[in-house]
Amino acid sequence: MRKKIAAGNWKMNTTPAQGTELAAAIASRRNEAGNDVDFIICPPFTHLTEVIRATRGKGVAVGAQNCAAEPKGAYTGEVSAEMLASIGVDYVILGHSERRQYYGETSETLNRKLEMAYANNLTPIYCVGEKLSEREAGKHFDVVKAQITEVIYNLSADKLARLVIAYEPVWAIGTGKTATSAQAQEIHAFIRKVLAEKFGDTADTVPILYGGSVNPKNAAELFGMPDVDGGLVGGASLEAESFIQIGKSFR
Ligand code: PGA
Repeated sequence: MRKKIAAGNWKMNTTPAQGTELAAAIASRRNEAGNDVDFIICPPFTHLTEVIRATRGKGVAVGAQNCAAEPKGAYTGEVSAEMLASIGVDYVILGHSERRQYYGETSETLNRKLEMAYANNLTPIYCVGEKLSEREAGKHFDVVKAQITEVIYNLSADKLARLVIAYEPVWAIGTGKTATSAQAQEIHAFIRKVLAEKFGDTADTVPILYGGSVNPKNAAELFGMPDVDGGLVGGASLEAESFIQIGKSFR
């Protein structure tokens, strides 16, 4: 049985006070979704300490949206995996398409970021996904396969058992355009097959989340697909009501 996961990526939204309030509201209602659904929220760095305090012991895990590729030192503006782990962060989103696109993150950087995450017991939420032009050219399978083989294939099997993957087609992020449940299932099954080619049965244990304009209206259909284990939710995770409704969308 794979975990069912509702993960919220707040991106660069909310002030710390607003974020703490949102986290507390989510924590106070997360039981509506039952205990077999894992809730994860990923606020900006500045919010983490207070958000962890507001959610502690309430069944909501906290993740960061990025971490440094190096352990420590002269890297102005960076935040290390060790710093995150030391304040109680459990997860870290790595390789989000916005990081790849705006901050030039490559497979080479991401290999080092994953290494830092694992060395500090953070569970990576590793994002993959193709751009619109790549899908239109029929290249989406190749693009996603490369994002997996260039990074995830370098992991040992025990690390794979502590990994979450998020498939997020870039054309669906923040656009209101969602992949159909059939499109999501097709590529999630493909990702699992690519994982199985290297890791065998362990591939069956890896949660694969769908991301890209998930909302309370489309979540149930997406999460009903056999290889869609939940969602990485941006916009709709910024309100407790819609995020909780998404968390309640598992069958
Ligand atoms: P969205 O973002 O739900 O606002 O489309 C998803 C994401 O980028 O993780």
